[in-house]
Amino acid sequence: MKPENLNTKIFLDSGDPAETKLVLEKLGFLDGQTTNPSLFAKNPEVQARITSGNKYSKGEVYEVYKSIVQEVSGLLPNGSVSIEVYADTNTPVEEILSQAREMNTWIPNAHIKLPVTKTGLEAAEILAKEGMRLNMTLVFSQEQAAAVYSATFRANKGQIYLSPFIGRLDDRGEDGMSFIKNVLEMHKAGDGHVEVLSASVRTYSHFMQCLKLNCDIATVPAKVLLEWAEKGCEMSEENWQYDKGELKTLEYEQVDLNKNWREYNIQHDLTDQGLEKFAKDWNNLVQ
Ligand code: G3P
Repeated sequence: MKPENLNTKIFLDSGDPAETKLVLEKLGFLDGQTTNPSLFAKNPEVQARITSGNKYSKGEVYEVYKSIVQEVSGLLPNGSVSIEVYADTNTPVEEILSQAREMNTWIPNAHIKLPVTKTGLEAAEILAKEGMRLNMTLVFSQEQAAAVYSATFRANKGQIYLSPFIGRLDDRGEDGMSFIKNVLEMHKAGDGHVEVLSASVRTYSHFMQCLKLNCDIATVPAKVLLEWAEKGCEMSEENWQYDKGELKTLEYEQVDLNKNWREYNIQHDLTDQGLEKFAKDWNNLVQ
């Protein structure tokens, strides 16, 4: 049951509608779901087909992705469902735009995921003006977050999500939770059109800290949400402290939100690696 003092929207991070059903049943609510090419590739039916040696044609793979997000959307008609475009380093902005516009017709409650790359931001600037709901993904630096804020300026509240990845910063010894804190702090100077969606949540304590920080949204794997349901959807005690262990705190940077997005340094190695991984997982499904 949803705690009364919960200020964070809870999303499931999964490409499997069976998990949506299970989490809904155990938790009693869900505010949305995020998918990405790697999660889509892990869908049990997709896996079964690939393991049998029967890859999809380029057209088929989009049709299968579409049917999965349509099923999820039917389960969460009042929530948001994120669908990610295919983008590698060579994907031109026109191709990102046409995928985004097509995917946005699949369901009525989509947020379209674009990477925080130059082409992703060019597309975001155009699509935000058209009123499309967007989820800007693979965010690892405050400058990237500021570029999203600036490229989508004047969008409505709730129209733009920003997905900073916690676990992948942890993986290289940097405290992903300190990054979430910094991004939230930076947005206090803004107009609220960007909502911070904490992603790459790997552990129960990541999740508890997201709630403690009051991030706008947390997208969370089924395993962690089921543990939360088991624990009666608890909120952390007043004196509970997140234990970052040996991870290095990322210090807050003074970043001006009011520059043109093209003036920010948006390069980050983890964005490049993340893009490569998503493209590889997607291409592995296609003949
Ligand atoms: O929400 C983004 C997420 O699916 C990525 O998670 O564990 O691959 O870093 P992970």
